[in-house]
Amino acid sequence: MTDVTRLIDIPNGRLSGHLFTDEDLYQQELVKVWKRSWNFLAHDSMIPKRGDYLQTYIGEDPILIVRQKDESVVAFLNQCRHRGMRICRADRGTAKAFTCTFHGWSYDLDGSLRQVPRQDTAYPDAFDRADWGARRVPRLECYKGFWFGTWDEDAPSFEEYLGSAKYYLDGYIDRWDGGMEAVAFHKWVLPNNWKYMAEQPTSDMQHSEITHASAGMVLNKGSDAADRTKRGTNPVGRQFFADYGHGGAWYGLKGAEVPNTGQAMQRYEARPEVAEQIARRLGDDREVRGHLNIFPTFMLLGNYTIRVTHPRGPNEQEVWSWAFVPKDADEETKDSIRRDVMRTFSPAGMFEADDALNWEEMQHILRGAVARDSGFTYQMTGAPIQWDEGCYPGGSTAHVFSDNAAINMYAHYLDLMTGEDWAEIKRLRAEHRLGK
Ligand code: FES
Ligand SMILES: [Fe+2]
Repeated sequence: MTDVTRLIDIPNGRLSGHLFTDEDLYQQELVKVWKRSWNFLAHDSMIPKRGDYLQTYIGEDPILIVRQKDESVVAFLNQCRHRGMRICRADRGTAKAFTCTFHGWSYDLDGSLRQVPRQDTAYPDAFDRADWGARRVPRLECYKGFWFGTWDEDAPSFEEYLGSAKYYLDGYIDRWDGGMEAVAFHKWVLPNNWKYMAEQPTSDMQHSEITHASAGMVLNKGSDAADRTKRGTNPVGRQFFADYGHGGAWYGLKGAEVPNTGQAMQRYEARPEVAEQIARRLGDDREVRGHLNIFPTFMLLGNYTIRVTHPRGPNEQEVWSWAFVPKDADEETKDSIRRDVMRTFSPAGMFEADDALNWEEMQHILRGAVARDSGFTYQMTGAPIQWDEGCYPGGSTAHVFSDNAAINMYAHYLDLMTGEDWAEIKRLRAEHRLGK
């Protein structure tokens, strides 16, 4: 069995290439990372009505999340208990029940087994449908319209899991009285390990001034993305991290007029009635929108691309990405925000292509026996870590370019991979707090 402790050296800021390629390690991750973390499943706007469902994943396990007749929400494994086919093969839709297309077992919206063909003539009397319902995701929580699930009964509550990241996440998703809605959706597969993508919104703002330099020059020509890309060369800003691996960063300082969003969003938020909502909900000075990641892979990028990536083996990931808009905005604003997302962080987006090329090349190079043995550095930790500094809860750094949040993400990952259960993971995290 691969020993993860040999691949991660937190005090010295070094990671091994095997962390991104090892098949045995990946199998451990499915159990220890994906089953035990809180995973994003759906937003209210994706399943607004009774019977609405969405098929998604926790790790590699297919999950159906379904709005019930009483408007509550249930999530269960999308695996028929007869022989293991998918209960529902569609990506999303509206249903009264789900019928497996193999032998026709049929399930209620909550995953309980409703009908078995030929039960009366071909099965013994002792066969009980109640024993063969779909496997329910035991912990499901809605946080401000976003649904998260975990298979671990002993995981902390979602708010405890968020910890100090709550302040920053709220600054992103809790700005407007009417809430948010998803307006566009893309999926695509990339040939690289999921951790490459996760660490980027968590910690790596510095790549943008190099990787995205040419895209920035093009987009600066009067597009909605202009103001944001210009700030790629400005290290003024802040990075934060939270105990359970979350992190993010934003340009600008508290109260500065430098939101990390496109012009359509800026115009919308400049309207007095919208500005009043933001000030009332968040206070006057919570300008904290940049990129952030709620571990493992719930990513929120500055222009309202919200996404999750699903692992597909050590060398592949499947990205699911939505454009989000303020629900109360006018159609023109919504469309402009959507188009900004399409231009930048969709599969055809300019920043997206830049990022994907790096990850694909890095993964490809790791096929080499020597390359895989290389160690990589996470030592850009010059700016000191501050705890609960001013209005900023948790760990943070008064410099937008830092590896601290990445190191924190891998420190949490290591504790998750080595901790027996959540009680031990909590103890390890308290013990290993970065900079304390
Ligand atoms: S596998 Fe679903 S009915 Fe047989
Ligand atoms: Fe990028």
